[in-house]
Amino acid sequence: MKDFLYIANWKMAKPFTQALHFVKNNKFKLAKLAQSHKTVICPSFVSLYPIIQELQNTSIKVGAQNCSAFAPGAYTGQVSAKSLKEVGCSYCIIGHSERRQYNHETNEEIAQKLELLLKNELQPIICIGESEQAFKNKKTKPILTEQLQPLLQILQKISFKKPIYFAYEPVWAIGSGIIPSNDYLSEITRWLGQQCTTQVPGLDIRIIYGGSVNPNNAASLKAIESINGFLIGSASLDFQKLKKIVS
Ligand code: 13P
Repeated sequence: MKDFLYIANWKMAKPFTQALHFVKNNKFKLAKLAQSHKTVICPSFVSLYPIIQELQNTSIKVGAQNCSAFAPGAYTGQVSAKSLKEVGCSYCIIGHSERRQYNHETNEEIAQKLELLLKNELQPIICIGESEQAFKNKKTKPILTEQLQPLLQILQKISFKKPIYFAYEPVWAIGSGIIPSNDYLSEITRWLGQQCTTQVPGLDIRIIYGGSVNPNNAASLKAIESINGFLIGSASLDFQKLKKIVS
């Protein structure tokens, strides 16, 4: 059986009270699930600390959805990787397409975040993916290469012992109910894996998939050899759906 990682990205969908409720109500079922399946929950910043406290002594890990590109200092409204580490996060998502779109994050800025995560020993979940337009114009690989380049440069200079996750999330598959064909996903994720391992040989880099993963398509997606995990958005907001995907 492959080492598969399930990451629930709650985005901004669950406000503080709801997020805490979800965890309290489903704590034992979640903990049981996580005993045999590596599971990570990524709530919004303010929910991180109480959720980490609630999930102490379980195998469920908690991750943030973003971090600052700067070390602690005068950056109003931002949250440093150092803070996330101190609060007890294990993972951090960076470069999500929603942040690239709404916050105009650049590949270079995302690479700066990566560097800070590695220095603070947080496991990165780095999102990359092409737009619908780029997909239609058959520009997926050049776009992914552009997104990868500054990230791989950081990975070349910093050694890291734990797995580093690249989440391939085609923008057109997020929240749309449309998923790429298995052949396409297999080709792209295999190619991504090769790009990473040839440019940064010693690192443990894993490719995961995100975009409209749900209980109906999970088994078929999981069968794709080069996919080592899912980054799950809306389906992860419902415990029953999440459970079906994981188990
Ligand atoms: P959906 O699963 O809602 O399509 O979201 C995917 C995603 O963006 C996860 O980061």
